[in-house]
Parts: sequence; structure tokens; C-alpha cells
Amino acid sequence: MCGRLTSGAVRRHDLKPKGEYCGFPARSYGHPERWLPPTGDSMAISVKPLHPLFGAEIGQVEIGLPLDDSTVVEIRAAFEEYSLLLFRDQELDDDKQIAFSERFGPLETTVKANPAGGTYFARQSNLDIDTGAVIPPEDRRIIYQKANMFWHTDSSFKRVPALCSLLSARLVPPEGGDTEFATMRATYAELPEATKRRIEGLVAEHSLVHSRSLVDPRVLTEEQKAELPPVPQTLVRTNPVNGRKSIYVGAHASHIVGWPVEQGRALLRELTEFATQQKFVYRHVWRAGDLVVWDNRCLLHRATPFDTVRYKRLMQRTTVAGDGPTVP
Ligand code: SIN
Repeated sequence: MCGRLTSGAVRRHDLKPKGEYCGFPARSYGHPERWLPPTGDSMAISVKPLHPLFGAEIGQVEIGLPLDDSTVVEIRAAFEEYSLLLFRDQELDDDKQIAFSERFGPLETTVKANPAGGTYFARQSNLDIDTGAVIPPEDRRIIYQKANMFWHTDSSFKRVPALCSLLSARLVPPEGGDTEFATMRATYAELPEATKRRIEGLVAEHSLVHSRSLVDPRVLTEEQKAELPPVPQTLVRTNPVNGRKSIYVGAHASHIVGWPVEQGRALLRELTEFATQQKFVYRHVWRAGDLVVWDNRCLLHRATPFDTVRYKRLMQRTTVAGDGPTVP
């Protein structure tokens, strides 16, 4: 059975055609031209915007089932256009999540510091991975996850940063634990021209040690620190499909290469504050069965608090690798 649903009447969406789709072989995820929106009225999925600037809920598709290539093309085109896609009421287990995630590209292996380190999953949870028991708030694993409450973009501390992340809501607390997303693409478009000129060509140094030190410098072991030395990332990125630019900042960004550290930090702070104004932010209130895919090239995100003693939260994240370093 194919994952495209045939029931329901809504088949159209408002993606603006930008060129002709030229087809692609299954499992070929390298070529940006392949993710141009299809033209015409023949869409299988439905697309409902979630926010005036970005994000869309995708309907008419069951992502836990094998998907035909044309449906994947539509999903990928919506991803390039909207930066964040929400799929509601999905029955996913780990294998199905991996299969769907791989339609976006090869998966990253998670860093050792995560309880699921060494697998394809970054586990975001207050439950022990072996026993399922609630982890006490003072435990290193809970403190480590607090860094997710800073605005960040996944894996920008890796030489090849992530293309996208897929977060699947398995257990959701009755209150709290929402995730916020901010569009660095709309941010870039609204930056003063002088700022755009000032930041063009700049490179920031990103590191996990830097972002974790914002919570507690002792949260990473020496082995975990050695796993991920700092890396350079460009400060302005361009989407290879539609050419739209975005800034590229977040908690892993430590300073600007070649600038005095404090001056670089001030610029990064200024850009992050600009990017996370309310008008650029979508807050997702999770329901069990949601899966959200977001574009790490142009969105920041952050977790929000919940009562980790009273409630259970289990989110499974897969992360798709980008297609190369952002700095040669
Ligand atoms: C993440 O930062 O990748 C996870 C966000 C969340 O758990 O809400």
C-alpha cells in the first residue's frame, strides 16, 4: 500500500510554481533542482499554512507507509517553500520514522552526549532510555537538555551541518513542552541593507562546548568535548532551490572568525534577538502523533519548559545531514 491517501477532497495548495519539475530517481536526494514545486493542479498532498511567514500542515498523506516518488517530490517542494512541515495523527515507530527521514537524505549519527548517542535518534525525553523511569531534575541528562531551550539550529557544531530535523511526538505532557521556531529567512529579508552588507561573507565559529557551557561547563565529559572541535559556518546562507537568503546563527555560534570575541558575540546576539521577534516565531503545541520536519538551514528553534517531575515527554528526533560544509 502506498502512503498517499486518496480520501478527502482538498488536493490543491497555494505553492507558487517556480519552474518545471524534471523527475528524479528514487533515493536520489542530491539535486536541489529536483525539489522545485510541481506545476499544475495535480497535487496529491494538501498544504495549509500555519503562520503568515512560514510553516504548513501537510494533509492527505500517511508518512509511516512507503511513499511513491511523486508524493516525496511534493513534500520536498513544500519543505523548500515553507521551511517547516507538520504531519498530524501519524502512526510512527522508530523504523518508520527512519524510512521517512531517509527520503530527505542520509541520516546523522547522534553525538555521544545524547542518551541515544551512536544511533540515528536524538532522544529528547525526561524518561530513562532503559527503564522508562522519570529522570530526576538534577541529573546530568536533564541539565544537558536545558541547552535546547536556547535558540539554536541542529548540528551547526558539525562541519557539515544538518539539512533538517524530524521530531516525532510519542508522549506529550498535558501542559508545557511546546517547541518554538523562528524564521531566519524572513529575518534576513527585513534586515537593513547596511546590516546585510556588513554580514555578507562573515564566518562564525560554532561549537557544542560553547552552547553547553551556557548551561553548565561541566555537563560534557572530556571525551564528549574531544568528539566535536569547533567548526566554521557562514553567517549568511542561500537556499539552493529558490535562492532565498537567511542568516545562520544560534546558540552554538560562539564568535565571528577574525573579529575580537566580544564584538562578534555582540553581533550574534543582535542578529538572534532580531530573528526571534514575535512576528518571526511559530509556537508548536504538540499532540501525540505529530511529526514536524524543519529546515535547519533557515530556522532557529527552542524547547520550552514543562514539569519534568509530574509529566512524561518522549520526542524522537532524526536528523538529516546537509550536503556539504558551508565554508570551503
Ligand atoms: C530540539 O531542540 O531538537 C528538540 C526541541 C524539543 O524537544 O522541543
